[in-house]
Order: sequence, then structure tokens, then C-alpha cells
Amino acid sequence: MTASSSTPQVGSRDHTVKWFDETVTVPPQARELLENYRHIPAAEVQDHVVTLRNKAWEVWPYPCLGQFRFLELNLANRADIYPQLLSRLRGGDQRFLDVGCCLGQDIRKLVYDGVPSENLAGIELEAGFVELGYELFRDRDTLKSRFAVGTILDEDWVVLKEWEGQYDVVQLGMILHLFTWEEQARVFEHAIRLLKREGDVAIIGQATGNLDGIASPSWRKNTFRHNAETFGKLISEVERSTGTRWEVTASLDDGLSVHDGKRTWDDPKTRRLLFEVRRKQE
Ligand SMILES: C[S@@+](CC[C@H](N)C(=O)[O-])C[C@H]1O[C@@H](n2cnc3c(N)ncnc32)[C@H](O)[C@@H]1O
Repeated sequence: MTASSSTPQVGSRDHTVKWFDETVTVPPQARELLENYRHIPAAEVQDHVVTLRNKAWEVWPYPCLGQFRFLELNLANRADIYPQLLSRLRGGDQRFLDVGCCLGQDIRKLVYDGVPSENLAGIELEAGFVELGYELFRDRDTLKSRFAVGTILDEDWVVLKEWEGQYDVVQLGMILHLFTWEEQARVFEHAIRLLKREGDVAIIGQATGNLDGIASPSWRKNTFRHNAETFGKLISEVERSTGTRWEVTASLDDGLSVHDGKRTWDDPKTRRLLFEVRRKQE
């Protein structure tokens, strides 16, 4: 489905686009985090969230910001992954990196759930999102997590070299579908560089997927939306290019409001891809 030139495209900051919700009912889990992590008064939460989202929309108008998806706390809601991740990270000797962390809600949720903040880190293309994350959570003076601003695609990026081999778990949260197949392979190659060389390390995440696994004619041509099969194929390619071996778990589900009739701009075969890629223990 190709939009006509007069149809607003992703990238438009216009508040009339279909993926911009004027307001939101803050879900209970996000409300609990905002009220109890750094004690934002209950009566302020609603306006605070909308104000911060509107500022973030000006940095870059991602549909997930338009729809307040950062309030869904997607990592914490991964029942297949989160309890085990928490117990690993609470131990204090394991480190987690969130690539494309945006406002950093998953990092704050981990801290709220008892993980030492100095063991968490984020990589983000837009400095403005990192700044707004501090503003949203009011934790500039307390959060010890480190953030690097730059692109995960750049193999010569100094941060990739400095942080190489340091992480136990890397998250790619709602970022893969922004990239072409070749770029996605590079993202995984770089994520593997950032992981520790030994032990039970993993790359976890979610992305916009598609029942057919297709290169999408979206705002950026040929960005790829996976199904479980195409995702497995991508990781096989990465295994060959990196000389490493990975256990892949991937599935599509009905997240991202695919069935509530709100994604009227989107391909009806859109689904959410969930994945976990763990190093094979020989
Ligand atoms: C759709 S948002 C998802 C944000 C967050 N992970 C979540 O799940 O709510 C994608 C994020 O990736 C960041 N991003 C896009 N391209 C990037 C790149 N090449 N390197 C690092 N971050 C990137 C964007 O700035 C944005 O914050």
C-alpha cells in the first residue's frame, strides 16, 4: 500500500496523523513506576507524561511516541524473559545494554525493580531523547547508568570499541524495523561485539513484524519486517559473518494494537515480533 504524496507520512510532526494520540490513560504499571520511583505526585502524572511525550515528538515523531508505547513497559511484560533477567541483574555482577533506548523507560523499570543502575546502559541516536528521559523520570541526580549518543550502525564508532565485550544482555527494543536487512545484520554483529565473549549471553527484543516477512515500502525504503522464519534466516547469516552460534526463539503476536482497529494506516498483516537470541553453549 503506497501512500499518496498528500497523505501524512511517518516523519510528520503534524498532530493530525493517525498514529498521534492527543492524550492517554496512564497504565497502572507505568503510573506505579512514575509515582514510586522518583515520586512524581499522582495528580501531576497525567499532564507530565503528555507534556514530555509532546517534547519527544518534536525530537523525532516516532509512531511509538505518538501512541505512548513507552508506557507499556514492554520489557517488564515479557513473562518469558523478565523474571530470569531480573534475577541475573539483581545479583550485581551482570550488565544490560538497551540499544535505541529512547526515553529509557526499561532502564528505569529495572532500577525500580532492584537492579543497580550503574550496571545498566543505553545507546541512543538522539541526545534529546536521553535528556527527556531524565526529565520524565526526574532522576538526573540519582541514575548512575551511562548513555552514549550515536548510531549503532557505525562500525568505527569509538563507543563500540570502548564498550566491547562488556555486556551480558543487549536489548534491541522496537528498533530493528527501522533498518534494512543488511543494516539489521550489522546491528546484530555490533550487538555481539558488545556482549561478553564467554557465558550465557543474549540479545533480546521486539520489533514491528509481518506475517509474510517482508521488505516494507515505508518511510525508509526496504526496511524489513520479519516473521519467525525470516528472523531465523537473518540470524543464520549473522552466525556465518561472525563465526558464532546462537539459539533463536522468535514469534509473532498481537501486540502493538494490531487488532484494536487503530492501525488504520498500516498493512493488516502487521504483527509484533518478539525474540531472544542466546549464545549456544557448546
Ligand atoms: C521506535 S523507538 C523505540 C524506543 C524504545 N526502545 C522502546 O521500545 O520504547 C526507536 C529508537 O531507536 C533510536 N534509533 C534509531 N536509529 C538508531 C541508531 N542507528 N542507533 C541508535 N539508536 C537509534 C531512535 O532514536 C529511537 O529512540
